[in-house]
Amino acid sequence: MRISESKIEEIRNSANIVDIVSEYVQLRKRGRNYIGLCPFHSEKTPSFTVSDEKQIYHCFGCHNGGNVFKFLMEYKKISFIEAVQELAEQLGIELNYDESVREGQSEQEILFDINTEVAKYFSNNLLNDEEGQIARDYFQKRNIKVQTMRAFGLGYALNGWENLVSFLKQKNIDLEKALQLGLIGRNKDGRVYDKLAGRIIFPIFSPNGRVVAFAGRKLREDDTGGKYINSPESIIYVKGRILYGLSFAKDEIRKLDKAIIVEGYMDLISLYQAGIKNVVAVSGTALTDDQAQLLSRYTKNVVLLFDADTAGISASMRSIEILLRKDFDVKIATLPSGEDPDSFVNKYGKDEFEEVIKRSENFLEYQTAYYEKQGMFNDPTKAAEAIRELVKPIAIIDDELKRNLLIKTIAKKFNLREKLLEKELEKALEQEKKTARTQTQRIYKEEIKSAETLIAPEIKKVPPQVYNTEKEIIRLMFENDETIFELISEQIDPETLELEIHRKIFSKLQQYYSEEKNLNPADLISLFDDDTQSYLREITIEQYTISQSWLENHPSVSAENNLYRYATDLIIKYKQLIIDIKISANLKAIENADSEEIALKLMRENLDLERAKREIKSLLLK
Ligand code: UTP
Ligand code: MN
Repeated sequence: MRISESKIEEIRNSANIVDIVSEYVQLRKRGRNYIGLCPFHSEKTPSFTVSDEKQIYHCFGCHNGGNVFKFLMEYKKISFIEAVQELAEQLGIELNYDESVREGQSEQEILFDINTEVAKYFSNNLLNDEEGQIARDYFQKRNIKVQTMRAFGLGYALNGWENLVSFLKQKNIDLEKALQLGLIGRNKDGRVYDKLAGRIIFPIFSPNGRVVAFAGRKLREDDTGGKYINSPESIIYVKGRILYGLSFAKDEIRKLDKAIIVEGYMDLISLYQAGIKNVVAVSGTALTDDQAQLLSRYTKNVVLLFDADTAGISASMRSIEILLRKDFDVKIATLPSGEDPDSFVNKYGKDEFEEVIKRSENFLEYQTAYYEKQGMFNDPTKAAEAIRELVKPIAIIDDELKRNLLIKTIAKKFNLREKLLEKELEKALEQEKKTARTQTQRIYKEEIKSAETLIAPEIKKVPPQVYNTEKEIIRLMFENDETIFELISEQIDPETLELEIHRKIFSKLQQYYSEEKNLNPADLISLFDDDTQSYLREITIEQYTISQSWLENHPSVSAENNLYRYATDLIIKYKQLIIDIKISANLKAIENADSEEIALKLMRENLDLERAKREIKSLLLK
């Protein structure tokens, strides 16, 4: 599937980046731009900047940046096409997919399409194939209705070595890509074979409902593989960034402002079938940072409902910390031992399940109860250790009031001395501050590279004045002003620019403009490689295009034509600067000249240069 270029442009032009970003980041106006705390690295003072005029964003801390699509892709961890779709939906723009344009399809799109085809194939096996009876029986035994199978796109992979392989061949699907997606494998003699053969299939969806991976559950006794076989990671599937079922649950999560987190695919599906739809599954591991971030778009309230076994408890403990760090309100629900959400809801029904959720404890009660059950409060040394453990997560919470309340509750409920807890909390807070500090330091060390340092070796070679003037010239070319662009283009020969990066930018802009007659800053920036883009965002988004000192020296210039005057002055300054450099080079050469003749020639050249320098001003300011 592909969306036409003109459609993409229409969407980009209708969306205002300030409005879109404001939905996720609190912005306030500063000068010409909007600033806020960067969502892509942790910081205490805002360096995340959004430009209304240029329709781009840029973080001066971590150098992440781009246009409105890039923001959505980065923020929501979605593909370009998903970002386009999401914006289109939000803006009420209808998308007409242009099926005929296939060559330009991105790698990701090709993989998505393969997965979609294969999901349909698996689903058809389950619903209609004769061999699918074994899977239909299995689901019936587990109380899954046909309607539910359809809703979740459940499927069945025929048993054998080459059923899927034949299907792929018949559909002309590139087997290398299917290998990449982990749908098929290749054995030692190079033969390809079905990887999920004879299994029940769960397609795994992106938040927008596209198939990114598959999980196959064992069905037969003689299947020697693991209980579940999951697709390997690929360019469309990063496990730690996907929450199973989110595409089905997101609306309900928003509506109820609460999410229930379970472990397994079947847990989620059974709950959904029973009418409990605000559920996501972590698929058997502890929650990751990225998953928490993803979920935080829909709610800040979660109930963890993991199995009551040791693996489940330790997954809960780890998840609590991750969620608290992202400011979630965390509760824990517990099922009777031996039950998981799937078995429980099938045995006792929806109402009983809702009771379980109602009885969920706050994370602290849960952890305290856990240590108590272990008998830790009976032994003084162990008790001290338990209290230290308990207080740690409280220290993560930002809100002081909340912290104090938690301490009180816990003291009362478990008959502990409040003072003792407070003292421990203080220590933990100190520790937490330290960790936070080293964390930011680490992030800064890793990420803070000013875009200018990317070109530092080049900058060092030229005098600062030359660099700054060249930079100003490049900056002006991104002002979306034809007159100024053309003036610069006419007056300046890119070959005279000292910095290679500036020469490269200048020439490319000239060429693009002559072909496209487009000066949209975001479009211009997107013509370059990542490092250059980062550099360009950094220099073009700066708060004042016209330097303050210039404005102060030109109080009489009116607002409308001041940019043009400024550009003219800048060009003059630049040309004179180039001449000055030549003159001083000549002066040096004169000193070292081998013969009178050479020295004289250089002196004459300098006289000409001086004259040219004087003339520049009158030529440009006619
Ligand atoms: P469970 O073993 O609890 O399975 O693993 P389940 O979901 O309850 O499945 P049923 O009810 O026995 O059919 C919980 C989750 O852990 C992941 C899966 O996501 C599973 O849903 N898992 C488990 C794996 O990825 N691989 C495995 O081998 C086992
Ligand atoms: Mn189960």
